[in-house]
Amino acid sequence: MSESKRTMIVTSALPYANGDIHLGHLVEYLQTDFWVRFQKMRGNRVVYICADDTHGTPIMVRARLENTTPEQLIERSYKQHTSDFASFEIAFDHYGSTNCAENHGFVDQIYAAMKEKGFVSTKKTKQFYCDNEKMFLPDSFLVGVCPKCGAPNQYGDSCEACGQTYSAEELKSPRCKFCGKEPSIRECEHLYFELEPSRDFLANLVPQIVTPDIANKLLEWFNEPLRGWCISRDAPYFGFEIPGHPGKFFYVWVDAPINYMGTLLAWCKEHGQSFDDWWQNPGTEIYHFIGKDIVRFHCLFWPTMLHAAGFRLPTKVFVHGFLTVDGEKMSKSRGTFIQAKAYLKYLKAQDLRFYYACKLNSTTDDLDLNTEDFVNRVNSDLVGKITNLASRGAQMLQKHFGRKLGKMDAAGEETWKHALAIADVIADDFENRNFSKAMVELRKIADEANQYFDSMAPWALVKQDSEAARQVLTSILNIFRTMAIYLAPILPSYAVRVAKLFREEPYTWDDLTKRLEDVEIETYEYLATRIDPKNIEALLEENRKLGAVPPPPPKPAAVQSVPVKETIDYDTFAKADLRVAKVLQAELVEGADKLLRLSLDIGDGHPRNVFAGIRKAYDPASIIGRSVVMVANLAPRKMRFGVSEGMILAAGNPDGSLFLVTPDEGAIPGATVK
Ligand code: MSP
Ligand code: ZN
Repeated sequence: MSESKRTMIVTSALPYANGDIHLGHLVEYLQTDFWVRFQKMRGNRVVYICADDTHGTPIMVRARLENTTPEQLIERSYKQHTSDFASFEIAFDHYGSTNCAENHGFVDQIYAAMKEKGFVSTKKTKQFYCDNEKMFLPDSFLVGVCPKCGAPNQYGDSCEACGQTYSAEELKSPRCKFCGKEPSIRECEHLYFELEPSRDFLANLVPQIVTPDIANKLLEWFNEPLRGWCISRDAPYFGFEIPGHPGKFFYVWVDAPINYMGTLLAWCKEHGQSFDDWWQNPGTEIYHFIGKDIVRFHCLFWPTMLHAAGFRLPTKVFVHGFLTVDGEKMSKSRGTFIQAKAYLKYLKAQDLRFYYACKLNSTTDDLDLNTEDFVNRVNSDLVGKITNLASRGAQMLQKHFGRKLGKMDAAGEETWKHALAIADVIADDFENRNFSKAMVELRKIADEANQYFDSMAPWALVKQDSEAARQVLTSILNIFRTMAIYLAPILPSYAVRVAKLFREEPYTWDDLTKRLEDVEIETYEYLATRIDPKNIEALLEENRKLGAVPPPPPKPAAVQSVPVKETIDYDTFAKADLRVAKVLQAELVEGADKLLRLSLDIGDGHPRNVFAGIRKAYDPASIIGRSVVMVANLAPRKMRFGVSEGMILAAGNPDGSLFLVTPDEGAIPGATVK
């Protein structure tokens, strides 16, 4: 513990603002939090930063569908995410947003450096284009049939039914998500960050920052020339515009990792610190915690950008596996796709923290949340073996000795020393992110302490030799205190309550060596309680219900999907002579399968002849006698079947369906429409 203090920047991957925090995410944020809290307890200087990943197409699409702005959406999700994280006691030093000025500055700086180094190229590619919406369609604007499993209504890049990812060209029967029309293919220009010039740099770096299994996988890419990385997206896009390329935006994966620096800078400003003293200081260690799905971004693209702009590189990238629940991928229909806030309705955050610690190690293996095992670990280990030492010990001390500790007895002191002796082992386990192993060590101590407790039977001893009983309780509480200090990175508020029980300040690692004797303690208050398995069943049941009936995706409103045309002045508008008209006659038109021939009364005794393209929506007989709105002064148009003397108004949905516009009851033929 005399080693010199380290300085560290630690990050977790930035969750997409577009989704809720779920138990899978928490595998990452909790392990990072455990590690950071441990480092801080050791007296190291650590900044733990994270942020919402706000940019990209999905957030834009959702804003469009929900008739709001991306800014409003990301504000809402910021509140939800930060509140979820706080509930799980995840203590970021700063939680930012990629949509901030600090990030924008670094993005421009890095882009300029990439350009200056000659690492930026432009290429023409082919992409789906919707002629109706007048825009290129990114993957998430496309819907179609999954090429792998045939599920309909899947996005252009991945299938929610089978979980496969694919590229947009593979999607079958592609359609524009907004108007439902088949897109065409157009040529467009995109910007690329070239990686090949950084080949040697990357090949050298990768094995230093990740474990050999991951390095080997990444290095497979190096058997061929490294392909450039497409970093531009066309408007409409929510993100940062690329300098010198109006209408083009940085792909979300460019500015997301850069925001590790953006968020650090925001934190520095808030705390009167210098960014360079932190990030650029050769003594600072930089660690990224990420899931195995985003390794390429963090180990190839990100270092290339940092290197080009002269920023320091990550010391290590810690990669973890994915969460399974009862042995299977999280699934909405099984009710195991559990959101943080749903979990909290039925169960305690502390219990998940404890359970994940029991399961986490430094490998990329998936982590299984086995619901039965979860209940057991919490009920038998955390409550039964560990917390009971404190509740029984402190309550007996209160009952018989006015909460006053005595000295430890010889056997108890021996057990306490065993608990202390593994401090370095536990510290190494934490340092190496072998949390599950630390928990095994802890359980061994708990078992030994319980054996000692039961063999001394202080509840009986108190009747014969009360001072001896007080010694046993004193030993037990000292052993428990040691365990609580070990547990502090995992169960922070639990450890704070333990410190209060012993009238102490929140623990640091140095508090281990202190012994508590001859002092008064507080009244015992709640530390942990058992899980009622019924709560787990209720949580899964509620989730199954949510999963079974997926809420229908909101339909785009017509006004949103068709861009509003340029403005006109009132006079232009007033030139249109709109009149209420009554359908006198309606009939099919031979040789024109879209048209109906209508005879319309506009109150002047001269019925007008109009060909209307509404045949697929209306049966002729069904509209005879109906009031509609007609443009009465449209120049007559000669058609193959006769002259059309006007048009009638109908609303057209994006999917092509049609709805005649009809005035409320009472409007008579010839009435003007304004
Ligand atoms: N926004 C990107 C990260 C940008 S970092 C510059 C992203 N977001 S995410 O919300 O999809 O995931 C955030 C982190 O949570 C990632 O590290 C991801 O691997 C992790 N997890 C998401 N789902 C997970 C599980 N089901 N299980 C374990 N970790 C998971 O990726
Ligand atoms: Zn599929």
